[in-house]
Amino acid sequence: MLTLDLSGKVALITGVGSGIGKSVAVVLARAGCSVSGCDLSKTGSEAALGFSGAVEAEGSESLYSLCDVSDTTELESFVQKTVDRFGKIDIVVSNAGMNIFKGAQNCMVEDWDFNMDLNLRAHWLLAKHCKPYLEETRGVIIIMTSNHAYYTIPGCFPYNVTKTALKGLVRSLAIEWGPAIRTVGIAPGFIETSANEKWFGNFPEPEKERQRTINMHPVKKLGTPEEVGALCAFLASDMAAFISGTTYLMDGGRSALMQDHCT
Ligand SMILES: NC(=O)c1ccc[n+]([C@@H]2O[C@H](COP(=O)([O-])OP(=O)(O)OC[C@H]3O[C@@H](n4cnc5c(N)ncnc54)[C@H](O)[C@@H]3O)[C@@H](O)[C@H]2O)c1
Repeated sequence: MLTLDLSGKVALITGVGSGIGKSVAVVLARAGCSVSGCDLSKTGSEAALGFSGAVEAEGSESLYSLCDVSDTTELESFVQKTVDRFGKIDIVVSNAGMNIFKGAQNCMVEDWDFNMDLNLRAHWLLAKHCKPYLEETRGVIIIMTSNHAYYTIPGCFPYNVTKTALKGLVRSLAIEWGPAIRTVGIAPGFIETSANEKWFGNFPEPEKERQRTINMHPVKKLGTPEEVGALCAFLASDMAAFISGTTYLMDGGRSALMQDHCT
């Protein structure tokens, strides 16, 4: 029987308080990893306890840290706390990010800088801080970009710019830090998270809009955060030893479907 066994590995994940990051933590814990996660909520908060409880329910150890990934000192300290507790790092899932959805004309320099720091610079700095530990374990870096790295719609600026640039970061780290470290990107499409539920809530008929969106996907469903977690687990495993320097678009086939087919 083929099993995906990551037992004994240590995973460091950013943005574990909700959505994709939390589910990636759960799936990696189920595969046997100890998980060190961070987010913006305080230790002891509902989000922090939700993360720890979910990881421990899978029988794995957890460590939660309050860390703003845009702050390089806090990032460095998060990495150090992980190593102090678990002694090593095998897997990094650089996931934390936020949508700044403006237009190229009305986007202010402050919006641009905020999003570049969070959605682009933080991924590079986290990788830099983790590099010495990943070299020791021959580890893997997984960077969460977006389908907006491939195609976008008006009003998603500068989010789409940051996510497109992450594909370049994945390539650079893979070619400069291999063979000791593999680096891979994941570009999720429409994933069912609370943020996306709010998105549907903005429409006069949310259920109709939801169905319209589902119809744009050849698989006739939206993605789940657990499915992103499953791809992370595979990419972190030895089965993916030949995968580095590329970004995987997982969008339920949406980008393969011509727009004039969607009503
Ligand atoms: N949900 C989707 O459909 C989708 C699609 C494509 C890409 N993504 C990407 O996946 C990643 C996770 O998104 P999500 O949908 O789970 O969103 P989410 O808002 O549910 O989760 C993101 C988490 O990151 C945390 N975070 C935000 N800024 C942070 C900071 N400065 N420091 C530390 N933590 C911070 C948030 O508090 C939150 O818990 C993001 O990079 C996002 O761009 C999501």
